[in-house]
Amino acid sequence: MLFLLFLGVAVAVLGVVAALSVLDSRHPELRWQWDQIDLGRTSLPPDFLWGTATAAHQVEGGCDGNNWSRWEQSADVHGRPRIRRGQRSGAACEHWSRFREDIECMRALGVRSYRFSLEWSKIEPEPGRIDREAVAHYHEVIDALRSAGMRPMVTLHHFTHPLWFEDLGAFERAANIEHFVAFGERMFREYADGVDLWCTINEPGVCVTMGYVLGRFPPGRADPATAATVLRNMLVAHARVYRRLKALPKGEGAEIGLVKNVLQFDPYRRWHPLDWLVARLLDAAYNRSILGFLEDGEFRMYVPGRVRRVESYPDGQGATDFIGLNYYSHTYIKTRFDPRWPLERMLRADDVITDMPYPIYAEGLYRALRRVSRLGKPIIVTENGIADARDDRRETFIRRYLYALSVAHREGVDVRGYYYWSLLDNFEWAEGFDMRFGLYAVDFATQERRLRAGSRAFVERVRGEGG
Ligand code: BGC
Repeated sequence: MLFLLFLGVAVAVLGVVAALSVLDSRHPELRWQWDQIDLGRTSLPPDFLWGTATAAHQVEGGCDGNNWSRWEQSADVHGRPRIRRGQRSGAACEHWSRFREDIECMRALGVRSYRFSLEWSKIEPEPGRIDREAVAHYHEVIDALRSAGMRPMVTLHHFTHPLWFEDLGAFERAANIEHFVAFGERMFREYADGVDLWCTINEPGVCVTMGYVLGRFPPGRADPATAATVLRNMLVAHARVYRRLKALPKGEGAEIGLVKNVLQFDPYRRWHPLDWLVARLLDAAYNRSILGFLEDGEFRMYVPGRVRRVESYPDGQGATDFIGLNYYSHTYIKTRFDPRWPLERMLRADDVITDMPYPIYAEGLYRALRRVSRLGKPIIVTENGIADARDDRRETFIRRYLYALSVAHREGVDVRGYYYWSLLDNFEWAEGFDMRFGLYAVDFATQERRLRAGSRAFVERVRGEGG
C-alpha cells in the first residue's frame, strides 16, 4: 500500500517536472548578454518605414467631449482624482494648432511617416452630426504631412470616443458597434485619397484591462465578465470595420490593421508550477484571445471561476492586412496565497526600470515579433518607446530595442516599419504629464519643443548613421 502511494507521488512529481521542462523549452525567458553585443550591428532595408506616433487626446488639446474628459473630472469612491495629482489633459501639447511646427520636428528626425489618431468626439460631437471644421482640420494635417514627404498612418480609435457613445454603453453593447463602423467608413471615404495606412482600434486589450478589470481607465470597472464582452465586441468591431473599408473604393489598395499590445507574462520562479499556471492563463486572456481571433476567428476567454467563453466569428479570421505591434516590456508573475489578488508583479535584481515602472526588456520585442509573425501577416511596430524624464536610459533603450528589431528582421520576420512612441511628451492617461515619452521634451508652460540628447540614437538609426 505504502509502496503504491510512494509510486503515485513519484509519478506525479515526475509529471510536473516533465511539464515544467516542456513549458521551459517552449517559452524560454530570453535574456541577452548586452555587454557582449555590438549594438551598432543592425541592418534594416532602405525602404524600412520609420515613423513616430501620437494619439489625439494625448497631444491635441481641447478634447472635452469624450469619455476621458469626463473621467479626468471625476473622482473615485474615496474622492481621489482619477489622474495622478488631479491633472487634466487640457491644452496638452496644442498639437491641434501647432501641427505644422510638429511636422517640422518630424522632418528634423528624418522619419517618413506619422501615426496619429482622429478624435471621433470632435468630428461627430452628436450622433450623425459631422463637424466640417474638424474634418477640414485633419485634411490640413494630412496634406501638410504629404507635402513634407511623409506618409500618414491614421488610427480610428485610440482609447477615446464621444460621450454620447459612452452613454450608449460604448463597446459593452454589440448594438453600438455599428456607430463605430459607420464612423470608420465616413473617415475612410473622406481621407482615403491621402491616407493608405489605417489602424482600426488601438490596443483593445489595454483598453479592456485598464477600463474593465483594473478600473484605472474609464469607465473604471472591475468586472471580468463585462471585460470579456467588451473585448469580444471590440474585436468584432475591428473585423467589421476592416471588411467594410476593404470593400470601399481604394479599400483594396489600403493597408488596414489592428494594433495589438503584446505583454509577456513570465513566471518569476521558473521551477514553480503555480507561477507558470497563472502566467499562462494571463497570456491566454491578454494575448491569445486577440491573436487567436485573427488567426482562426475564434474568441476564447477563460478566467477561472468567472468567465468561460468560446465563440466563433468567421469574419475575424485573417481580418487584418498587417499587425500593428505595440511593445513596451514584459512582466514577471509570482503567485501568493491571497484569494483577493493571488499574484504579484516582480522584477529581477539587474532590471533597469523605466519611469512607468517596468523594465527595459528589448529581448521581449524580439520575442513578440517572432510570435506575432506566426500569423503570417506583415508586422509594423506601431509603438515602442520609453518614459524617461532624466533622459539617462533613453539611448540604451533605443539602441537595444532597435537591435532586437533588426535581429528579428535578419531572421526573416516580415517587419516593415517602426514608429517611436512618442514624438512629444504628452498626456500619459492615468499618469498625467509626468511620464516623459517624447523624443522631444515639451515645456508645457511655453509649449517649446526640444530634442532630447538620448533621442539622437534614434535619429542616427533612421538616417542610417552610427553603424
Ligand atoms: C498607448 C499609448 C500610451 C503608451 C505609453 C500605449 O499603451 O497606446 O497611448 O501613451 O502605451 O504608455
